[in-house]
Amino acid sequence: MCRLPMRNTRARLITGFAAVQLLSLLAACGRTTPAGPSVSSATTASVGGATSVSRGAAATAMPEPTSGTTVEIARPSNPGGPGAAAAMTGDPKAGALIFAANCKPCHGDAGKVGVSNPGSTDGTVPPLNPIDETLVSKDPKVYAYNLDLFIQHGSTPEGDKPTLKMAAWGDDGKLTQQQIADVIAYIISLNPAK
Ligand code: HEC
Repeated sequence: MCRLPMRNTRARLITGFAAVQLLSLLAACGRTTPAGPSVSSATTASVGGATSVSRGAAATAMPEPTSGTTVEIARPSNPGGPGAAAAMTGDPKAGALIFAANCKPCHGDAGKVGVSNPGSTDGTVPPLNPIDETLVSKDPKVYAYNLDLFIQHGSTPEGDKPTLKMAAWGDDGKLTQQQIADVIAYIISLNPAK
């Protein structure tokens, strides 16, 4: 990043010569006016072509779809990169059985109804059918990656005291990587990218 020798400069105290120097420095830094103290800005995970992914769980570089718009993708509260499952081929039929045995109690039959979750801001567990649209991607690798982060590491929903939270199925060894790949394939089959 580009650092300026002066920050929060009070322009009226600068002599004409110094002001010219400062302006050319700012121009060299890609800025034309001394508008604010900070040159760098926080980046967020997004589906904008040029935006870099640099936050917590999203630290591993992934190809970003070039849609031109910037949308913040839902990410789990727990950190960590993708597990092996994100790059594996899953069987949606096997995934349906895994889902019914492990996920249905909270996300409902075929992911259709999230059960009540007192203490969470949303009030319910999120349904997975239809799923949060920011998780959906036309690129199957990106789609699997977005789901994998939640399933591997788990997540605590926003709110004072959520009763239910998403378990870390991968990190805690509750499912194998193949089982996670299968359940990801099943969730994708319920919510095909349009
Ligand atoms: C004890 C209840 C519970 C169980 C069982 C459960 N989840 Fe979750 N799940 C949650 C909660 C709560 C969230 C919301 C987390 C948040 O908002 O940070 C969630 C979020 C998710 C998300 C992200 C969806 C979104 O809209 O943000 C996915 C994907 C997911 N769960 C998949 C699964 C899968 C696959 C299983 C089974 C292997 C499963 N869950 C089992 C409670 C559960």
